Amino acid sequence: MAVAGRWMLWTLAVHLHTLQGDALTVNMRESNLEVLRGDAVTLPCSFFTSDPVSQLNVIWTVVPFSSTETPTQVIVYDHGQVMEDPSFIGRVGFAGIPWSADIVLNETRGSDAGVYRCMVNNPPETTEMGIGELTLSVLSPPSLPVCQWDGPITEGGSVTLSCSVDEGIPTPEIEWDKLSPEEIPLPVNMDGDMSGSAQILNVSSQTSGLYRCSASNALGTEHCYVNLSIYRTPDSPSGILQGVLLTLSMSLLLLALLLLITWLHRTGQDGRTRVRDEEGDETRYKPSLMKRSFV
Ligand SMILES: *[C@@H]1O[C@H](CO)[C@@H](O)[C@H](O)[C@H]1NC(C)=O
Ligand SMILES: *[C@@H]1O[C@H](CO)[C@@H](O)[C@H](O)[C@H]1NC(C)=O
Ligand SMILES: *[C@@H]1O[C@H](CO)[C@@H](O)[C@H](O)[C@H]1NC(C)=O
Repeated sequence: MAVAGRWMLWTLAVHLHTLQGDALTVNMRESNLEVLRGDAVTLPCSFFTSDPVSQLNVIWTVVPFSSTETPTQVIVYDHGQVMEDPSFIGRVGFAGIPWSADIVLNETRGSDAGVYRCMVNNPPETTEMGIGELTLSVLSPPSLPVCQWDGPITEGGSVTLSCSVDEGIPTPEIEWDKLSPEEIPLPVNMDGDMSGSAQILNVSSQTSGLYRCSASNALGTEHCYVNLSIYRTPDSPSGILQGVLLTLSMSLLLLALLLLITWLHRTGQDGRTRVRDEEGDETRYKPSLMKRSFV
């Protein structure tokens, strides 16, 4: 009971303090920021205090996405002195101290992405430190993807085309296309976020050609290529023979068709001349006329 009572008293004190208006409050103005890698960005942090800022103390920390461990200090303002973390030296600075705790980050790197925290303290206003947080994303176009292929490039085999990209935020989308003789998109299996493969089953000579992988996000597209040449398996010379035979039979068939057409054409013409010659006996020649119109 005694503990609960004390806790209530404490909350009351805090509330009173807030009502009095001399508690320090922090406003980040943004909760998510995006910057293109290499560009500068302002991380906003406004604070409100009713006391003079002669002993203002500001600490910015970051927990990078790449190592979600302990926060590291980015930059500190203490009694008019500024200290920067070695990894940010020359790239970070306050942009309005002591009126605001905004910082400017120049030449942003991929490793700068993370959760930033702005902590403001203004002694003798000792009750509470004002704290605000924001998330910084550093965007980058896709890096050059790497194309590879695997599998036997002989007829009947199956070949896997794979494509992987190292960088790119937002995560690049991976596509495979066959470029020649016409552009055809291929279905892609994603192997994780940053690599995708396309499988070509039952390879044949039609499979030969240029294949392109595209890695793209909102900031750009990069390509890599694979040029596949499919070799006939040397132990099947019958393939050539089959081809020759096929061509030969096709020619024979065409020839037969041509002969048939010529014959039908001729009989049809005969029919018409005969119809003209022997008027009144049309019914007899109707079948040949019908055949002709069919051809
Ligand atoms: C950031 O870049 C701007 C413009 O080039 C420059 O004026 C400013 O001093 C730079 N800030 C820091 C901390 O290097
Ligand atoms: C592979 O393709 C050839 C012709 O390109 C076809 O004759 C054969 O049946 C196919 N095999 C399979 C397993 O699909
Ligand atoms: C692909 O390879 C074939 C045969 O090796 C070659 O003739 C062709 O020029 C190549 N195409 C490209 C775009 O490299």
